[in-house]
Amino acid sequence: MAIDNRVPILLVSIALVSMAIGLNQAEGTTHTVEGWALMKYNKYAAAEKFTVGDTLVFKYIHGQHNVLRVTREDFFLCNGSNPIANYATGDDFVTLVETGDHFFICGVKSHCLTGQKLNILVKRDHSASSPPPFSLYPVVRVGISLLVLCFLY
Ligand SMILES: *[C@@H]1O[C@H](CO)[C@@H](O)[C@H](O)[C@H]1NC(C)=O
Repeated sequence: MAIDNRVPILLVSIALVSMAIGLNQAEGTTHTVEGWALMKYNKYAAAEKFTVGDTLVFKYIHGQHNVLRVTREDFFLCNGSNPIANYATGDDFVTLVETGDHFFICGVKSHCLTGQKLNILVKRDHSASSPPPFSLYPVVRVGISLLVLCFLY
C-alpha cells in the first residue's frame, strides 16, 4: 500500500528534523576567521551572529600574527601590552563564554593599526533571540525533500 510506505519516511524525516534542531541548540556555532591576516573586521562582525557557547577560530600562519583579547580602550589604542588573553598557534580556538563586546587585535608590529582587529558582540543564547534564518534551513530543506518523496510514492 502506498500510504504504508510513506509512514517510515515520515518518521525518519521527523527524527532528522528533531536532531537538526537539537544539535543547533546544544552546540555553539564555530566561526572561522580565515582571513585574520587581512582582516576587514567591520564587514566580518556585521555578517556574523555570535552567541555564548560559540567558538571563534583564528587561522593564520604561525609566527606571522597573533590574537590578543584586549579591553575596549586598548582595542581603540591598539595597545597589546596588557591583554586579557592571548593566542599564537595560528589555529586558535576561542570559546565565547560571556555576553557583550569582545575585542581582539593582532599584537605583531603595527598590524592592529592597519586594521587587523575584530570587535564582536556576543548575545546570550540561540533560544533567547528570534531564531536566525540558518537554523530554519534544515527544517525547510527536509520539508521540501519530504514533499518530493510524497510525489514519488
Ligand atoms: C598600554 O597599556 C599599558 C598597560 O595597560 C600602559 O601602561 C601603557 O601606557 C599603554 N600604552 C599606550 C601607548 O597607551
